[in-house]
Amino acid sequence: MRAAIIGYGKMGHEIEKILVQRGHTVSLIIDQDNIADLNAEHLAGIDVAIEFTTPQTAYNNIRTCIEAGVAIVSGTTGWTERLPELQQLCREKGSAMIYSSNYSLGVNIAFRINRRLAELMNGCNNYDVRIEEIHHTQKKDAPSGTAITLAQEAIDRLDRKNRWNCIEPQKGETSQATADSIEITSLREGTVPGTHTVTYESADDTLELKHTLKSRSALATGAVIAAEFICGKKGVFTMDDLFKE
Ligand SMILES: NC(=O)c1ccc[n+]([C@@H]2O[C@H](COP(=O)([O-])OP(=O)(O)OC[C@H]3O[C@@H](n4cnc5c(N)ncnc54)[C@H](O)[C@@H]3O)[C@@H](O)[C@H]2O)c1
Repeated sequence: MRAAIIGYGKMGHEIEKILVQRGHTVSLIIDQDNIADLNAEHLAGIDVAIEFTTPQTAYNNIRTCIEAGVAIVSGTTGWTERLPELQQLCREKGSAMIYSSNYSLGVNIAFRINRRLAELMNGCNNYDVRIEEIHHTQKKDAPSGTAITLAQEAIDRLDRKNRWNCIEPQKGETSQATADSIEITSLREGTVPGTHTVTYESADDTLELKHTLKSRSALATGAVIAAEFICGKKGVFTMDDLFKE
């Protein structure tokens, strides 16, 4: 597979290592200092581009790849209100894309358990639910895209919840929990790669679904596996499609 890396930061470096380990060729690396090189000419001959940049830049980067007919894996969080627009463009152009707020295979299993748990908890009104996410201090967005996915997928299955709200206690924010909202508490600590906990609590007991990432390599490996999965395909894919295969 001939790959392009768009965003040569913490994830971009980790993805480069995994691509090489798995026998792929890194043919193009784009970061802030050579943004102008992200064009059809430089993308010619690339099978898949893997994009981990910033909430402000993801949309244009992905759009450029779709228009050049290059399959794209994106993991950038904090911008996804415009994702459906790009998924539509991808279908129209007959290109391929996959987006996930988290490429760790363990988190994607947690997503599935979270959905099932919410279905079971829908009939148990004595439990309230909250989410906590902890990430490194350099993370730009809060809450994490993973926490939003966990919250949204629970809201879709819990009749008593219709929105989420986020608080950042380290900025002095205190709980704003309401009966119809899932409160996400975002904490920023050291170099933590990513910890997510979904907690259901009643007067009698507590049930927790917790995922603790030990390193970024699990995320990079998942992104490269996603790239291998969409290489040569057409269409809009999710990690669930990858699991099915
Ligand atoms: N989906 C997942 O599994 C997952 C995992 C980890 C991180 N993330 C997300 O991925 C993104 C990147 O994370 P990171 O930890 O690598 O951040 P980072 O800050 O270490 O790296 C981002 C890189 O993008 C570069 N960049 C900025 N604008 C650019 C542009 N227009 N074109 C190309 N490159 C550009 C920056 O210079 C930087 O090197 C964040 O949104 C983060 O939340 C997602």
